[in-house]
Amino acid sequence: MRLVRWGILATGNIAQDMAQALYDSADAEIVAVASRNLAKAEAFGETWNIPRRYEGYAALAQDPDVDIVYIATPHSHHHENMQLCLSAGKHVLCEKAFTSNARQAAECIALARQKGFFLMEAMWMRFFPAMQTIREWLQEDLIGDVRLIQADFCFDLPFDPEHRLYNPALSGGALLDLGIYPLSLTTMILGFPQQLRSHAQIGQTGVDELDSIICAYQNAQASLSCSMRINKPREAFILGTKGYIKIHDIFFSPEQLTLQMNGQAPQLKHYPFAGNGYIHELEEVHACLRAGKTESEIMPLDETLKLMELMDGLRAEWGVVFPGEIPK
Ligand SMILES: NC(=O)c1ccc[n+]([C@@H]2O[C@H](COP(=O)([O-])OP(=O)(O)OC[C@H]3O[C@@H](n4cnc5c(N)ncnc54)[C@H](OP(=O)(O)O)[C@@H]3O)[C@@H](O)[C@H]2O)c1
Repeated sequence: MRLVRWGILATGNIAQDMAQALYDSADAEIVAVASRNLAKAEAFGETWNIPRRYEGYAALAQDPDVDIVYIATPHSHHHENMQLCLSAGKHVLCEKAFTSNARQAAECIALARQKGFFLMEAMWMRFFPAMQTIREWLQEDLIGDVRLIQADFCFDLPFDPEHRLYNPALSGGALLDLGIYPLSLTTMILGFPQQLRSHAQIGQTGVDELDSIICAYQNAQASLSCSMRINKPREAFILGTKGYIKIHDIFFSPEQLTLQMNGQAPQLKHYPFAGNGYIHELEEVHACLRAGKTESEIMPLDETLKLMELMDGLRAEWGVVFPGEIPK
């Protein structure tokens, strides 16, 4: 079978990790890379043995030998980059958070559906073998009805107003960068909440730096936090009427689970991921492309859109507005 031909748009941190995973994949080849700066594209291309290196993202979008583009820019640029690539006839895998806001997400999803191209939020967490196991355990009712989810993604990042996470011009803040993981875990298991309660601490650049979020359901709740100001183990618990699952640190790239069924001894289980972990989401993308599917059932576009709407609502409560947005 022909290899899936990838183009990489941007050459930052996560682009390096994805290049490694694509390099490791038996189903893929990286045919092109683009950067705002030709020297960066050349250096990246040298490292990963990529034949075509472009200055500017438009040239990548126009390359007829690229099947799918992986977008690895800051959230603030995802909308523009997706529009560029989808309009040029490419399938797209776009990093999380999918866009800065729901309006942008809706426009990209509509364009992909209208043109019939594959589009997915690169929520790699959902594709790990341990996450697949969790979905199976829940389906098998091993822990009963889920009543509570607890998940936190906090780490201490030294303050730098120019850094992607602190810079509102790059759609910074803990919610879009970190909070998306506990939120996506929650909606994967419980769907969307009937009510939200939250509190955020807003820093000197105007973005949220420490967020607590309660998602309330008829018979369940999720208690979530995210921050770039404090260190905390990045673990998660899914607690049900018959037991609980602990997802050990790091819950969004999990390898260890504890299954505790009431009245039984806890079971510690290992689910090693392949390579650097990104290959599992690539396997999903390749399977979808080969099957002619334009959306993933594991990370559906409707859910991506609703998550963006949920995060819009939280930011509106907190008064976090990115440049160019109209305050709600
Ligand atoms: N799935 C995951 O595990 C994971 C992990 C980390 C980050 N992410 C997501 O991936 C995206 C990128 O994160 P990152 O950590 O790789 O960021 P990064 O290291 O800052 O890289 C972002 C890249 O985007 C390009 N870019 C275009 N316009 C830019 C601008 N105005 N300012 C800065 N960079 C600009 C640059 O590439 P060129 O100069 O080459 O054009 C830059 O190197 C974010 O959406 C983030 O949430 C995902």
